[in-house]
Amino acid sequence: MDDRFTLSFRPDIDLTVEAEQFVLRSSQHSLTLESPQPGLKTALEHLKHDHLTLFQLATVVADLDGEEAAILFAAELQKLIHLGWICHSVLPLATAIPIAANYQFKPLNGDWQTQPLLLSRFAYLHQEHQQFVLESSQSKSKIILLDWRVAGLIAKLTQIRTGFSIDDLIDTQIESTSIQSLLQLLIATEMIEVEPIELTLAQWKFHNLLFHRRIRLERLDDSRKENIPVFEEHDRYPIVKPSMSDRTIPLDKPDLASLMQSDMTLTQAIEARQSIHEYAQQPIILEQLSEFLYRTARVKEVYTFEEDPMQIGEVTKRPYPAGDALYELEIYPVVSQCTGLAAGLYHYQPLTHTLHHLADLNPEVEALIYNAWKSTGQQDIPQVLLMITARFGRLYWKHHDIAYGLILKHIGVLYQTFYLVATAMHLAPSAISSGNSEQFCRVAGLDEYEESSVGEFALGSASP
Ligand SMILES: Cc1cc2nc3c(=O)[nH]c(=O)nc-3n(C[C@H](O)[C@H](O)[C@H](O)COP(=O)(O)O)c2cc1C
Repeated sequence: MDDRFTLSFRPDIDLTVEAEQFVLRSSQHSLTLESPQPGLKTALEHLKHDHLTLFQLATVVADLDGEEAAILFAAELQKLIHLGWICHSVLPLATAIPIAANYQFKPLNGDWQTQPLLLSRFAYLHQEHQQFVLESSQSKSKIILLDWRVAGLIAKLTQIRTGFSIDDLIDTQIESTSIQSLLQLLIATEMIEVEPIELTLAQWKFHNLLFHRRIRLERLDDSRKENIPVFEEHDRYPIVKPSMSDRTIPLDKPDLASLMQSDMTLTQAIEARQSIHEYAQQPIILEQLSEFLYRTARVKEVYTFEEDPMQIGEVTKRPYPAGDALYELEIYPVVSQCTGLAAGLYHYQPLTHTLHHLADLNPEVEALIYNAWKSTGQQDIPQVLLMITARFGRLYWKHHDIAYGLILKHIGVLYQTFYLVATAMHLAPSAISSGNSEQFCRVAGLDEYEESSVGEFALGSASP
């Protein structure tokens, strides 16, 4: 029986004892034990309040309930480990806390020290609640470093090229048996790679896999599960961004009823849609830009949900969908050529359907257009570049881990609405994959942590 690690319940697992009933509860599951035997009771209480090894726990059960009960206890404990309820510690140095269900803790048996050990390139250290925490996108644990020397040990591990001996790590000032247990903890939690890296994994960049795991893995320590969040920042993040300048350009509204008669069909728009980087001789005109913005992004209605436990308050209806109708995206047209509208940078106000002038075509605004031109294969210079920003605070209070992923989904939804409306209007659309948010925030005077560009879209007049 493994004696290298001490075991304990994850800190959020609740143990209540009522008369003869023991109830264990996590945010997902609960387990009720009717009249457990004294040894089992004691072992569960040790798991809640102390740190004992599996051998010590099994001994407690064997002493009070018998050998057979101890074997059964060890088997049942495996099920709790699989649920992600059990932490493994090498005290007083580190504790591995499961962060997802279907958890496995797999130390290596046999002559493991002859194997090359390499810290996963997906491992990272960060500070959380004043603790140093080791995580990896390959692992279902987070390891709390209880002693700074463990950080030194992890740093040394990254330097080991081939072969390794405990002596290589002895200058971390950790004694050799603890080093061995720590290494086994890192192996068992997949922080250290022992298998050759699979080809499918080799294609992943560190940050792409981290982002993927953080938004797709259902984490046991997801704070969303703890309580219903309440939107307290209506004033800082209202339904639409207040006007950014009083140099207002009112925009025409198209006649939707007649468009419904004359427009191409949805199927025609989907089939004809394409990205176009070459424009007609005559640039796009202000009436077309007005109609395009109205049909893709205006506020159609302001309303409140019938039930509003999160106190979201007023929300808006727009032509494209958005999670919880929170609509965090903003549109900033950067105009290089548009008949009827001076070149420069504007902000679109979707409630009043107006543009607000922010800057003339100065060298910094030109640089935005130049970058977009480079990204679209250096064909025609985008006549109108739609910079799309997110007001992060509209989403971050609610969505936590998935919020940035949700913004990117909203960008996709908006892009397709742009594409289809541009096609129906015989304009030339193209999405753009990359942009420089730091540069845009500087030009538009935005605090990048509050609101930043997250997408770009080029628009122009199409040749017949
Ligand atoms: C999210 C997204 C990003 C894109 N980024 C760029 C880009 O940076 N530069 C570019 O020239 N085209 C870009 N495009 C356009 C694609 O290259 C184009 O959609 C693809 O070649 C298919 O052609 P089609 O749109 O004409 O059907 C992007 C399209 C999407 C949906």
